Amino acid sequence: MAQPDPSTQLPPPQHIAIIMDGNGRWAKKRGLPRTAGHSAGAEAFRRTANYCRTLGVKYLTVYAFSTENWKRSGEEVAGIMKLLGKYLQEALRDMEKNHVRFRFFGDLSRLSPELRQLCEEAQQRSGAYHEVQVNFCLNYGGRDEILRAVKAYAQDVAAGKQDVNTLTESGFAAYLDSAGVPDPELVIRPSGEMRVSNFLPWQTVYSEFVFMNVLWPDFGPAELDAAIAEYHRRNRRFGGA
Ligand code: IPE
Ligand code: IPE
Ligand code: MG
Repeated sequence: MAQPDPSTQLPPPQHIAIIMDGNGRWAKKRGLPRTAGHSAGAEAFRRTANYCRTLGVKYLTVYAFSTENWKRSGEEVAGIMKLLGKYLQEALRDMEKNHVRFRFFGDLSRLSPELRQLCEEAQQRSGAYHEVQVNFCLNYGGRDEILRAVKAYAQDVAAGKQDVNTLTESGFAAYLDSAGVPDPELVIRPSGEMRVSNFLPWQTVYSEFVFMNVLWPDFGPAELDAAIAEYHRRNRRFGGA
């Protein structure tokens, strides 16, 4: 008989980041429009976020829309934006029940005023919750994040608020979208692709990556358990011996 995996008894990582990929292929396999895949992907996100809360994960960062995803058809982009709006409205409605704290990473200035308003409201109204924080990456690109941080930092130097000679890694990290959030210990990419696609380059220099063959709409608690078990089997050295 199979022995229980001791790694599942260990506490989960405090911060898990997920590249929610494979919605289009999931839909294609079923002869459905890509937008149907994104709807199913939104369900997978709800399932996974709830399960993270049950496990006691403190931060869940999800890649929902990249700075490169604007290359897709107007119809697909509009479908994704509509789903995001719907999700945020629901999240606002259920806020008192779910106690999820929301943060948004990315350049929100390119989103519609309505969506931006929902993001701001979700962030503001959930600021005091402390069970689990979901960081939604919307119009997020890692290089764009670093560039925006560099610009903000340079402005502070020009204004005499910062001294370039005393800049440290943590001092610079305070200018990133992820300011105040610990780096993810674990990054999961479903869909079978083995690349990072501009996701959290600064924050993941020592993260453990788990690439999985499941498509995101099929992801759930069992897949998260498997990824966490794999994480616990890794030997993290951080450059030490
Ligand atoms: C991820 O699924 C969702 C977004 C990038 C918005 P995809 O839409 O990239 O799905 P695949 O990779 O085409 O299967
Ligand atoms: C990464 O997936 C972005 C999100 C999941 C939001 P993509 O599907 O855009 O990445 P590539 O094109 O396969 O690298
Ligand atoms: Mg994809």
